[in-house]
Amino acid sequence: MSFDVNKLIEQAILARENAYAPYSNFKVGAAILLKDGSYIHGCNVENASYGLCNCAERTALFKMVSEGYKKDDAVAFCIVGKTKDVISPCGACRQVMSELLPLDCRIVLANLDGKTKLTSISELLPYSFNEGDLS
Ligand code: THU
Repeated sequence: MSFDVNKLIEQAILARENAYAPYSNFKVGAAILLKDGSYIHGCNVENASYGLCNCAERTALFKMVSEGYKKDDAVAFCIVGKTKDVISPCGACRQVMSELLPLDCRIVLANLDGKTKLTSISELLPYSFNEGDLS
């Protein structure tokens, strides 16, 4: 399925505006484009107990699941931050992305200066641990 990459990035930038990042002051936005044409937004949500901070990626993915969508509903996923180069998701988020996004989901990494990189789950997390390893 084709998609409008600029619109997806715009949605992630909008999502970033809601970031709750009083400790790091580093705001991150994420957006998921679904097959029905709707978008799910996510932002990072921090906590005075630092270990409880939740990344934008996981906020968006957990929202997608809690709204009743399945992994195959996701077409594309975008992350944006105010970084020099495109933002790169942390290891924990890569694992959750590999669990909750389809293998063919288009992943767009972006920054606020218009840099973008199109990538994939398998490029971000090769040799991943997944449900198949549990049997
Ligand atoms: N963060 C994200 O939300 N996504 C990333 O890809 C990298 C890091 C958040 C976590 C924390 O709230 C802040 O950015 C600084 O690490």
